[in-house]
Formats: sequence, C-alpha cells, structure tokens
Amino acid sequence: MGLYHVPVLLKEVIEVVAPKDNGRYFDGTLGAGGHAKAILDHSAPRGLLAGTDLDQNVITELSKQLSVYEKRMYLFNKNYTAIDYICSILGWDSLDGIILDLGISSFVLEDPKRGFSFLREGPLDMRFSLDNPLNAHKVVNAYPEDKLTWILNNYGGERFAPRIARAIIKARTIETTIELANVVRSAIPKRFWPKKIHPATKTFQAIRIEVNKEISNLEEFLPKAVSLLCPGGTVAIISFHSLEDRVVKQFFAARSRPHNRSIGLPVLDDGEQPRLASIFKKPITPSPGELSCNPRARSARLRAARRIS
Ligand SMILES: C[S@@+](CC[C@H](N)C(=O)[O-])C[C@H]1O[C@@H](n2cnc3c(N)ncnc32)[C@H](O)[C@@H]1O
Repeated sequence: MGLYHVPVLLKEVIEVVAPKDNGRYFDGTLGAGGHAKAILDHSAPRGLLAGTDLDQNVITELSKQLSVYEKRMYLFNKNYTAIDYICSILGWDSLDGIILDLGISSFVLEDPKRGFSFLREGPLDMRFSLDNPLNAHKVVNAYPEDKLTWILNNYGGERFAPRIARAIIKARTIETTIELANVVRSAIPKRFWPKKIHPATKTFQAIRIEVNKEISNLEEFLPKAVSLLCPGGTVAIISFHSLEDRVVKQFFAARSRPHNRSIGLPVLDDGEQPRLASIFKKPITPSPGELSCNPRARSARLRAARRIS
C-alpha cells in the first residue's frame, strides 16, 4: 500500500527545528516522510537525516520515494528508542534537531488489515511493527479483567472502563474490530455516548497504546534524545493525546528547573543532566486553516525545547 499522510504542524516544526546546511537531524517517526522531507529540503545541500519507523513497509517505500536524498538520509526499521544506537553506528556524537510525530499514519489507520479502525472490519491487530509479539487480539481476549480495566482507565481515560472490561470478558472470544466496537458501544449507557467521537474511540486508543508500549517508549526516548542534542539543538514532539503530552510536558519542566546547585541545595543525582529551555509556554495547536484542510490534526499538540547546556 502506498504511503499517504498529511504532515501535521509542518510549518511550526520547521520553524522551531530551523534545519541548517550541515546539520544532523533525527526523525523517529518517519511515517509517510512529510516532516523528514521538509527537514532534508531545509538543510540542503549538506544536512543529514537519520530516521526510524517500526513499520517495515514505511522504510521500503520511503527508500524509493525519497531516493533523491539517498546520500543525505539513513533510514532504519527500528524503534525510535534506538536513537543512541543509531547515532553510534553512524558515528554521530550529537544532533542539531530531533522530532517525533506520535500519531498514526492515515494509510495505516485506513488499512482494515492493520486493525486500528473501529469503522472498518478487520482483525484485532493494532501493531505498528509486525514483529511485535503482542497484538490487540491477545490484549482483548487474554488479559485479566483488572488489567484491562487499568489500561482502559489509564491509557484511554475511559470513565466506563470497569463496565467495558466486564463486557469484553463476557463476549470473549472477540475476533474483529467491529465486534469489539459493538461490545464497547453496548457497555456504555446510550445517554453517555460522546457526541463528537465514536463510543469506542477511547477503548481503541487505550489498546493501541498497550500493544505498542507507546508511553514507555516515549519515557525511554526523551532522556536519550536530550543527551544527544548539541547545545542550541531542538527537540520537537507532536502528541495526540493528553497522556503523551503530559509525559513530554513533565520531562521538559523537570529538565528546565534550575540546578539544585544554583539555589544552594545539595546536588541530587540529576545535577549533571543536560538542561533544556522550553520554547513555548503552552503547546502549539493547528491553526484553523490547517484544521479545515486536515481535520485529523485536531488533537495535535506540539511541544519543543532547546538544549542550553
Ligand atoms: C503519524 S506517523 C508520522 C507521520 C510523519 N511525520 C509524516 O510526516 O508523514 C507516526 C509513525 O510513527 C511510527 N512509530 C510509532 N511508534 C514508533 C516507535 N516507537 N519507533 C519507531 N516508529 C514508530 C508509526 O509506525 C508511524 O509510521
């Protein structure tokens, strides 16, 4: 399947990362390559970009689509948490800019075989990487009720988590996305169905986060990324739900506080960790113009920080 996806907050990302000739950049979530291509264009003629995607199809297709940049780009079918390994094999000791765009590509969401959509009949899969031993079928059909409840509550913010978990257990075995969507819908009293989104939206989000370990990947990635940034270098993260956004916000805030040393307190363990300055006080969201062309961008939030030491 071809890659198609409209890059979100593209102008804003390029403004904060400000790619320069000779710079070195990392895009951990290549997708259809919109952000990567813009970074390569803005850092021409000598800027370099390394990128990762868990989806092998992305790497195969982008190697062809972006072949004009061949000499300046390095694509890896790896988790973005391998940023340190990738820099070490490329012999790069620092990066000028790092981006993550954590959503899901349109071409994957719309492919029923991948099982991400509650609107398209497909197997319960939801894996970014086909090498992942965990899939949605295992989460839905094998997890104990308390674990399912926890996931729906914590990763989906679903207030009906206990009822939905109970209904899932009762309906087992659930084979397809539409079957799951119907079980969720019938577990939520109709008067509480959300007005703007499908009643199964939060459940699907929660299961996808669990299958792909999205929160722990982000938590592992951020300190590694910042250690690799050169002073003045920028890390920019686009997130699509509040849980991810909170991880980024709290990490940037913790690394932006003054060193304990500077306020006369004993130096704690994090005393020598690289420091950041957040670039925006509040996350940047898509403009009305962008939203009218690309409604899928509606929950995107961009946070960015610069390394200062
Ligand atoms: C929203 S898309 C990126 C879109 C891209 N910025 C563009 O302009 O087309 C997110 C991509 O990140 C990939 N992905 C998600 N988690 C990942 C991880 N931990 N490591 C590597 N790739 C990941 C997904 O497979 C997907 O292709």
